[in-house]
Amino acid sequence: MIIYLIGFMGSGKSTFGKRMASRSGWNFEDLDTLIANIEGKTVRDIFKESGEEYFREIEAKVLRNIPAGDNIVIACGGGTPCHKGNMEFMNQAGVTVYLKLDVATLAHRLKNTRKVRPLLEGMEQEEMEEYIKTTLTQREECYNKAQLIIDGLKADPGKLMDIVLFRPPYNK
Ligand code: S3P
Repeated sequence: MIIYLIGFMGSGKSTFGKRMASRSGWNFEDLDTLIANIEGKTVRDIFKESGEEYFREIEAKVLRNIPAGDNIVIACGGGTPCHKGNMEFMNQAGVTVYLKLDVATLAHRLKNTRKVRPLLEGMEQEEMEEYIKTTLTQREECYNKAQLIIDGLKADPGKLMDIVLFRPPYNK
């Protein structure tokens, strides 16, 4: 079974996913890390050298190449669900969980990691907040198709694992 964690940049998908996986003896993978390993360069460099469209193509391929037989939690990139039919794919291939956070919390969390995130690079705080607001509104159209929507501030990794495992069916 595959659990796909989705949500905006800075919503804690990787931290949360690692905790969920380790408590249940599952594997954990970060989609950005898988992409970076395959391409042999950082996501930031892929964006810089080859552009976003190229990144989205690789992202969609890597996502589909994750073996479905394993028990695995995947932390997706913030844009993953909104490109290349990925949300529909993930909803069929496993369980999708949206870690939902508000704009102010995201802006606060992203303040210090702007430099490693190609879509936020060079933005001042105010500009970044505006970007988060606009982009989150657009992306929630995809994020809200998740089978489970969880409050990212209140969520507990152990409890969430129980919810995912013991309260099927999820397919909408
Ligand atoms: C992106 C989010 C990033 C990464 C890439 C694009 C996005 O992942 O995939 O920089 O479109 O929001 P994180 O959400 O892990 O930062």
